[in-house]
Amino acid sequence: MRLDIISIFPEYFAPLDVSLIGKARERGTLDVRLHQLRDWAHDVHRTVDDTPYGGGPGMVMKPEVWGEAIDTVIDTAIDTGIDTVVGSAGGPAPRLVVPTPSGRPFTQELAQELAGEPWLLFACGRYEGIDSRVMQEYSGRLRVDEVSIGDYVLAGGEVAVLVMVEAVGRLLPGVLGNAQSAVDDSFAPGSMRNLVEGPVFTKPPVWRGHEVPAVLLSGHHGNVARWRRDEAIRRTVRNRPELAAELDPATLDKHDRKLLEELSFRLQPEDVAN
Ligand SMILES: C[S@@+](CC[C@H](N)C(=O)[O-])C[C@H]1O[C@@H](n2cnc3c(N)ncnc32)[C@H](O)[C@@H]1O
Repeated sequence: MRLDIISIFPEYFAPLDVSLIGKARERGTLDVRLHQLRDWAHDVHRTVDDTPYGGGPGMVMKPEVWGEAIDTVIDTAIDTGIDTVVGSAGGPAPRLVVPTPSGRPFTQELAQELAGEPWLLFACGRYEGIDSRVMQEYSGRLRVDEVSIGDYVLAGGEVAVLVMVEAVGRLLPGVLGNAQSAVDDSFAPGSMRNLVEGPVFTKPPVWRGHEVPAVLLSGHHGNVARWRRDEAIRRTVRNRPELAAELDPATLDKHDRKLLEELSFRLQPEDVAN
């Protein structure tokens, strides 16, 4: 997968040299290219922002600079070796991801979807964000997603992009040592959809008087799987009731329903009917 990241702080991405993502880059699974937005600003101060129309505090990132930057990156398509995505000009095109608190939520489902793309281009905003005409312009030529990593406001898009690159990168084939880890993760599609993972333990069996639950030492795979699912349900109900409310009734067996009842968690009436 090719990843281009445009930012006024490319040095923010040093962590992409480390750990799983660093190794994926070394192996060539991930081709990460960082770009300094100011390289496309032509005044002596390399200005990338201006005052907002309509007044108000803060500054807005200039469309001309972003336009030149994104065009230049798209024009390098020729050296990507990607021939599966065809842009409107007839060549390969990236999917443009713009982090913003006003975007659609970044979820494991979206991470999975992005992991299936051959080429992603991230545009990191700063100040009050990027002039909206940039997203408008490229929506006609590329797939554009404005994406939020949570209901809070960061100072810039760089941290949000680090979050997305790590979540997407670990889903690429061969990046995780054990591919099963991603299947059992919180929010994974399938049986963990809308569930968070329960508690995990390692040796020793007793630490400062705290014992590992006996079932995990039993070697009985069926009972261990049941216990893990029960704990995932308990934790989801306790910490993420809004997710538990979205549990698909088709994925719940009799035991799950009984547990939810014990936890006084009521499924939607139409769900119970199913
Ligand atoms: C200070 S924020 C701008 C916030 C904007 N005025 C608003 O209230 O929606 C500057 C930049 O940080 C990034 N950012 C901040 N919070 C974010 C979030 N929750 N998810 C994704 N990106 C975020 C975006 O790139 C944004 O353009």
